Amino acid sequence: MVVKTRSTGFRSLMYRSGWLYNAITRRLYDQDTKFYTIATLIGKGPKKVLDMPCGTGYLMRFLHPAIEYEGVDLNHRFLKRIRKKELKKRNIKLRKIILHQKDIFEFQNYEGNIKDVIVLCDILHHIFPRHVDLINIAKKISQKIIICEPYVIKPREISARDRLLKFVIFFGKYLPKTLYKIVDFLFLDNDGINTYHLRSKWNLDESGLKEFFETMGFNNTRRILDEYIAIWES
Ligand SMILES: C[S@@+](CC[C@H](N)C(=O)[O-])C[C@H]1O[C@@H](n2cnc3c(N)ncnc32)[C@H](O)[C@@H]1O
Repeated sequence: MVVKTRSTGFRSLMYRSGWLYNAITRRLYDQDTKFYTIATLIGKGPKKVLDMPCGTGYLMRFLHPAIEYEGVDLNHRFLKRIRKKELKKRNIKLRKIILHQKDIFEFQNYEGNIKDVIVLCDILHHIFPRHVDLINIAKKISQKIIICEPYVIKPREISARDRLLKFVIFFGKYLPKTLYKIVDFLFLDNDGINTYHLRSKWNLDESGLKEFFETMGFNNTRRILDEYIAIWES
């Protein structure tokens, strides 16, 4: 069930199709290892898991069947990708699946709806400078938070797994800032929710991200390709 509140602004090509988003991110990151690791950290047995934002729901593929999954995202196309057909195709059988098309900052059921685990995957660099607010909200309503965040997001630094993407990225480094902004708007990280102006201010490199996690009380960090997973427990 998808509960709808509002939609997004203009989104890049990547954020217009759940299929394309999955295809690109699978070539950029080690998605299967990453989500398998997150699912392992969540653990087995009956648990309430909130995935904020859930994107195309990739995490669900790896979760234990006894889990109650709740996903929040504003992108209706991504939520649509999590259809019955897709769940059947991927043999995803979870105890409960609830999807909300909502702003993660306006998620109504925050208070009094305690989750066992909240997953914040690939979102902090999108919502800068409100990333600390989101973590603090999550701390109030969950016993455990798992963050996964890329520590390099500038094209020239990404060690994509795919030759074509590596080629595109290689040429991307020669683009002037104004042109890169247009490319971002049309094809890259423009989610239709967060402005380029703010997103481009996110500058945490590998050590900066690790330091940030430590400051926020997260530990047990582990690196997967260009990303870091960190855990907080109450
Ligand atoms: C890079 S994707 C990550 C999705 C998913 N967590 C994953 O790892 O595949 C970022 C997602 O954040 C969503 N998003 C960004 N800001 C949001 C907000 N304020 N409220 C709800 N969703 C938001 C976008 O729609 C997009 O689906």
